[in-house]
Amino acid sequence: MYFRPTPVERPEELFDREEEVKALREAVGRSPMVVVVGVRRVGKTSLVKAATFGMRRVYLDLRAFEWRRYITLDDVLGELGRAVSGLSKRLVELLSRVEGVSVAGVEVRFARGRGRPILHRVLEALNQWGESEGGDVVVVLDEAQELAKLRGASLLPVLAYSYDNLPRLKFVVTGSKEGMLYKFLRLSDAESPLYGRYAPRVEVKPLPRRLAVEYLRRGFEAAGVRVSAEVVERAVDELDGIIGWLAHFGLMAVEYAKAGKSVEEALEASAEAGAELAWSEFCNFVALRGSGRYVDIVRAAAEGATWSEIKR
Ligand SMILES: Nc1ncnc2c1ncn2[C@@H]1O[C@H](COP(=O)(O)OP(=O)(O)O)[C@@H](O)[C@H]1O
Ligand SMILES: [Mg+2]
Repeated sequence: MYFRPTPVERPEELFDREEEVKALREAVGRSPMVVVVGVRRVGKTSLVKAATFGMRRVYLDLRAFEWRRYITLDDVLGELGRAVSGLSKRLVELLSRVEGVSVAGVEVRFARGRGRPILHRVLEALNQWGESEGGDVVVVLDEAQELAKLRGASLLPVLAYSYDNLPRLKFVVTGSKEGMLYKFLRLSDAESPLYGRYAPRVEVKPLPRRLAVEYLRRGFEAAGVRVSAEVVERAVDELDGIIGWLAHFGLMAVEYAKAGKSVEEALEASAEAGAELAWSEFCNFVALRGSGRYVDIVRAAAEGATWSEIKR
């Protein structure tokens, strides 16, 4: 088990998470839609990819839309076209029968504008793929709250259609921003197409302290780098059990150790790089919202203001 800069792909590469894998697979087995939530870098993408490894799977990384103010149906179809390309000959053949879809080898292209394919038809083709092979097709909408930015169309009717009529399609929707995710899905809004649909929720939590320490210890051992128990404890003090930050520190520490530098320095550098990353994400967020108010809110929160003080 090594530290890695990118999400885990295979179940055997996951540290811990046996229960979450089991819960997710079981939920996918019994429900057309499953929601996976947890803060950034806690390991949602890794969990979902590993738990669905080897299944027929269409994976959409919607972080592509994170810093966009709004997106169009063509943007969504563009991502979907990329996601279905190269997956299976059978699928490409089924998609090629849909109007507005062209194929070249195993590459799939969706026409844009007026000639674009109807999303229902595309999902039907995905469902047929599952049916023809006697199994489910998992569609992962990773960071699905970004789809709330869609203008000029809504995805909820087609999601509801699929939920009710396409038994082989299983949607796994993840979100780092749980409030925004549920606001997008509107499962409990009587006016919403998805109203009343049951969608089990799987939460990915930070590692408890004992496991965070264990993760670092085993990672360093696998990399052949000696790190004192004290430094490991201190890293967990600073980074908590967010596995993405622990991995970030682990990678840096291994690099530092190989260059003959101290691991303590790596902890400092990693915390600094993390803060910088968080800062740039925050700046992007403020720019996206187009309001300096968020700067004031965060400043007040950092100074320990209470909720009512912030509101005032
Ligand atoms: N269970 C795990 N075992 C080992 N590494 C993990 C695990 N979960 C996440 N990671 C690592 O942590 C980082 C962030 O994980 P990711 O799945 O991208 O988080 P999220 O999707 O919640 O933002 C990645 O570098 C990934 O390799
Ligand atoms: Mg992710």
